[in-house]
Amino acid sequence: MQPEWRNVEAATLETFQNHRPSEYFSHLSDEGAFVDHLARVEDLYRFGLCLPPEFFDGKTVIDLGSGTGENSISLAVWGASCTLVDLNPEAIERAELVFDRRAPVGNRHRFIASSLFDLAECDLDESFDVAHSRGVFTHVKDKAKAFRILASYARPGGYVIYGDRNVCGGVQEMLQRLCIYSIAKNTDEMIQVAETLFWEDINASQAAVPRTREAIIFDRWVIQQQDDPSISEVLNMMAAEGIEYVSSWPKIEFAGRGTSTYTPPSNLNALVSGSALTESLWMLMRGGEEDAQDCGVDSDHLMSYAAQLHETAGLLRNLQTSSNVDQAQLRNSFVQLSERTLQVWDARPAWATKAEEFYKEVDHLLLALSNEESATDLRALIDSFDWLFKGHVGVRHVDYVGFKPASSP
Ligand SMILES: C[S@@+](CC[C@H](N)C(=O)[O-])C[C@H]1O[C@@H](n2cnc3c(N)ncnc32)[C@H](O)[C@@H]1O
Repeated sequence: MQPEWRNVEAATLETFQNHRPSEYFSHLSDEGAFVDHLARVEDLYRFGLCLPPEFFDGKTVIDLGSGTGENSISLAVWGASCTLVDLNPEAIERAELVFDRRAPVGNRHRFIASSLFDLAECDLDESFDVAHSRGVFTHVKDKAKAFRILASYARPGGYVIYGDRNVCGGVQEMLQRLCIYSIAKNTDEMIQVAETLFWEDINASQAAVPRTREAIIFDRWVIQQQDDPSISEVLNMMAAEGIEYVSSWPKIEFAGRGTSTYTPPSNLNALVSGSALTESLWMLMRGGEEDAQDCGVDSDHLMSYAAQLHETAGLLRNLQTSSNVDQAQLRNSFVQLSERTLQVWDARPAWATKAEEFYKEVDHLLLALSNEESATDLRALIDSFDWLFKGHVGVRHVDYVGFKPASSP
């Protein structure tokens, strides 16, 4: 009998052989779309993950679960030599096509059709400047073991780039699953119900990344194993393998972390315990960053609060022995600031109100599911929601960068 993790692997392969989840457009000859794609990825790496494209020039990269190479091709364009590994031989075949078409001549790339768990048998006895895996471990049975394998391929002094969904950011997606599974009895019905209930969400995903609607439905709801980690689980997996957290996108940091240049950024205790704060916002995410900006505050008053805050602080700016401070003006300024602070924070932070509405909608949904309501009735209920299944539907993917210290074994 096969061990359980092999069954998971076989089921994952079967689903992704029906629809390759990472097949977008890089194998096609649409130059404009590829240039736009590269610009978007550069933005992510340079400003989000803080690893600029120049960093990759001359580096070696291993990409575990590379899919069709739509991620690692950017690193190759920036000068990296890439080794792509994927369970699905058809994805690896397509990756070769993508690299043939897009990778600059000169660097050597390798393509290996294998489970990441079987790589030890593939004669890959080397380490890499960057060990990379995105959107893969969520589909395997033993994430910690997969992470250990990933980290083992980073050389001491090298980097690990790991990305997956987040367990809290993905709550809405799991509620979508609950709706679909409660009605649909087979894959065809799942496609139908997903289209009835969540067509706007599918539209939005298609607009963000060009794919067929079925590829989105398979990647999101048909695939069985979708076990997303929390921020603290990721940080702990890193720590267990001696990998130091460097950065992430979306940012997991929250205001107030660190007090000066002497606060060691590598001290993760505050980050681990405070990550629930970030994740509670991720669960509700409907809009873009405007949701996060008013995190815990009344956004209508935020601008005037910011102006007052800086005006008050400005009165004390660069205070020197010769400065002439208008004490009455300063006092008045602090009174104004205090009033605006109360307006902004109000008795109840804006996010708490939103969270309350969100949880009420979840409750209505669960009640409807327990009453075995039809897809049409569920759809009517979803139409009445303001938060649940709207806009971004939570936070669906988080990338983390880690560093393997040079003293690592
Ligand atoms: C959602 S796709 C992500 C592809 C690519 N990393 C990307 O972000 O575009 C997941 C990929 O992981 C691969 N995969 C799943 N389990 C794997 C395993 N045990 N070993 C290697 N690849 C695996 C699948 O075949 C699939 O191509």
